[in-house]
Amino acid sequence: MRILIAGMGDLGGEVARLAVHGGHEVLGLRRSKTAAPPGVTALRGDVTTPGSLAHLPPTQATIYCVAAAARNEAAYQRTYPEGLSHLLDALERTGSAGTRVLFVSSTGVYGDAGGDWVNEDTVPAPASFTGRAMLDAEHLLEARGFEGTSLRLGGIYGPGRTSLIDAVRAGQPFPEATMRHWTNRVHRDDAARAIMKLVKEPLAAPTVNVVDPHPARREEVLGWLAARVGVDIRTAARTPGRRSSGDRRVSSQRLASTDFEFLYPSFKEGYGRLLDRPS
Ligand SMILES: NC(=O)c1ccc[n+]([C@@H]2O[C@H](COP(=O)([O-])OP(=O)(O)OC[C@H]3O[C@@H](n4cnc5c(N)ncnc54)[C@H](OP(=O)(O)O)[C@@H]3O)[C@@H](O)[C@H]2O)c1
Repeated sequence: MRILIAGMGDLGGEVARLAVHGGHEVLGLRRSKTAAPPGVTALRGDVTTPGSLAHLPPTQATIYCVAAAARNEAAYQRTYPEGLSHLLDALERTGSAGTRVLFVSSTGVYGDAGGDWVNEDTVPAPASFTGRAMLDAEHLLEARGFEGTSLRLGGIYGPGRTSLIDAVRAGQPFPEATMRHWTNRVHRDDAARAIMKLVKEPLAAPTVNVVDPHPARREEVLGWLAARVGVDIRTAARTPGRRSSGDRRVSSQRLASTDFEFLYPSFKEGYGRLLDRPS
């Protein structure tokens, strides 16, 4: 199968690696000239600039995992609903209207649930412009008539994505008010494996949560990390620059119904591996 990955970054690169390994022809789209993983054909293009997408060849599957360049509303709107729309236009023009599209979305669409469980049937209520932009893109995909699924990923961590470990090690304070909030995450490698699983074995569902099956309270994650690296956790009433991601437990039952198995079913396996072998 020919697979187009728009956004050949950390996650897209790992998906590409798995796809090449699986014998697929893989095209990786990004703006810069950065080298693509072995076996991947690098395409240059900017999803916010329709003219740069004119050269795309027909594809059987398309994965959209472009990340916004800046954390502001305009950049998020440009990157997610508008960028996805431009890419879908380009796919239609190149005879790929039948391509299966997986849009990498976020559990941020759920907003705050007061610690309750949410699943794909829960009505989304994003609390920030980031979640709203993702939800706008999900709605756009549903409206465009492609065979498409939005994958709602929790916080991605993995090789090179160790900001939480680094913050704990550095003794940075964490906001007291969110210590008992539930957090949801997925190891980068499991996210990439789940994406490839759904490329090969599509689920007839508009949305699928991609989070490990064990949400954990922030205090549990931080306490465990602190014990592993041998520091005390510091908390503070006010902590500049830190945002709450919403208090909710995200179910991955729908993904589990595919017989998908997590390599890192909880933060302990994932962070444990990173602490034992950082790269
Ligand atoms: N971080 C999280 O915890 C989290 C949680 C849920 C969902 N997500 C989503 O996961 C996806 C993948 O994240 P990631 O960590 O792999 O991001 P990443 O490593 O930053 O990669 C993003 C890629 O997108 C490319 N890109 C950016 N703007 C582009 C544009 N206008 N046109 C074409 N390509 C563009 C970048 O390359 P160039 O700069 O060369 O263009 C880069 O290769 C994103 O959609 C993100 O929103 C992330």
